[in-house]
Amino acid sequence: MELITNVTEYEKLAKEKLPKMVYDYYASGAEDQWTLKENREAFSRILFRPRILIDVSHIDMATNILGFNISMPIMIAPSAMQKMAHPEGELATARAAASAGTIMTLSSWSTSSVEEVNSVGPGIRFFQLYVYKDRNIVRQLVKRAEMAGFKAIALTVDTPRLGRREADIKNRFTLPPHLVLKNFEDLDLGTMDKTNDSGLASYVAGQVDRTLSWKDVKWLQTITSLPILVKGVVTAEDTRLAIEYGAAGIIVSNHGARQLDYVPATISCLEEVVREAKGRLPVFLDGGVRRGTDVFKALALGASGVFIGRPVLFSLAVDGEAGVRKVLQMLRDELELTMALSGCTSLREITRAHVITDGDRIGRSRL
Ligand code: FNR
Repeated sequence: MELITNVTEYEKLAKEKLPKMVYDYYASGAEDQWTLKENREAFSRILFRPRILIDVSHIDMATNILGFNISMPIMIAPSAMQKMAHPEGELATARAAASAGTIMTLSSWSTSSVEEVNSVGPGIRFFQLYVYKDRNIVRQLVKRAEMAGFKAIALTVDTPRLGRREADIKNRFTLPPHLVLKNFEDLDLGTMDKTNDSGLASYVAGQVDRTLSWKDVKWLQTITSLPILVKGVVTAEDTRLAIEYGAAGIIVSNHGARQLDYVPATISCLEEVVREAKGRLPVFLDGGVRRGTDVFKALALGASGVFIGRPVLFSLAVDGEAGVRKVLQMLRDELELTMALSGCTSLREITRAHVITDGDRIGRSRL
């Protein structure tokens, strides 16, 4: 196999290897997929203002997230049904994250249970929560995640209904029969019916609570003492509310462009959220992060860290745990090099002055 030199190369290899229904589910975005493209393109419009003649012989990328020390500001986003990519699924991802010294977020819709993921050994893990109509299910699940050592809840707030992913509709996407949504197996909610469109969209319509609102963020705090990250904020207004309702952090996310199409790229929404947060809580970003330069840009615009989604799935499909390890290592190496070439020796030294955005250029041309 030809040497893989960047994260994006895994996508093509995964496409060759995976069944079409699975690849399409992983790769696609909602409707016209405008946001999917824009999540990448917006990064490419941000340029650097590197500083020179700074001793960069030692670069420190370590950071602290919600009180946990990790090796780098690059973490793993929750993505569902990872055993469709590789027989070891989420267990391989958990091992790769632990060996890279970073955080993995496990999806509610994982094909390995919270207990199974815990059994892979030490590692800092967050649990992503979808709120079901039946709140007893939510209570039980959150308790199980706590017992299994998960350290935070990432509450996904952009999915009262599933976005319209046309490839899944055409493929009549459903979970392959040998797999189950393992956390829900004992509740008889672990399988998806084959429908005439997307089986996942029907599952969401049947189970996920569309009435979810800010008061439920408070409710969640009555059933768990774990910190709650609100995943899916893209505006200043909702940043204010997230703070008011006691969130421990915000993940600026558009769900990898799989929900509402024509929302801006997450990197374009980041500064608005950061400005409103005023340092009162950490702000994270996911969506389109494929290079160390992307990570640097997000940090320069105020993120405390980033999460990656599809690169994990594609590398898992190609090479299991080793693939995910390699993706994390490549991003780490690229971030380190970007910092060295920009004159930053620690994450603290990455500032807003190290990048120029479209907005800056318009501002300057007016001067
Ligand atoms: C996701 N994402 C997601 N988010 C979530 O909160 N719960 C979930 O179960 C899933 N499942 C899921 C499956 C697949 C196949 C993808 C691609 C994404 C969204 C995910 O957490 C994250 O927001 C995006 O994937 C980030 O964008 P990139 O890195 O994939 O561009």
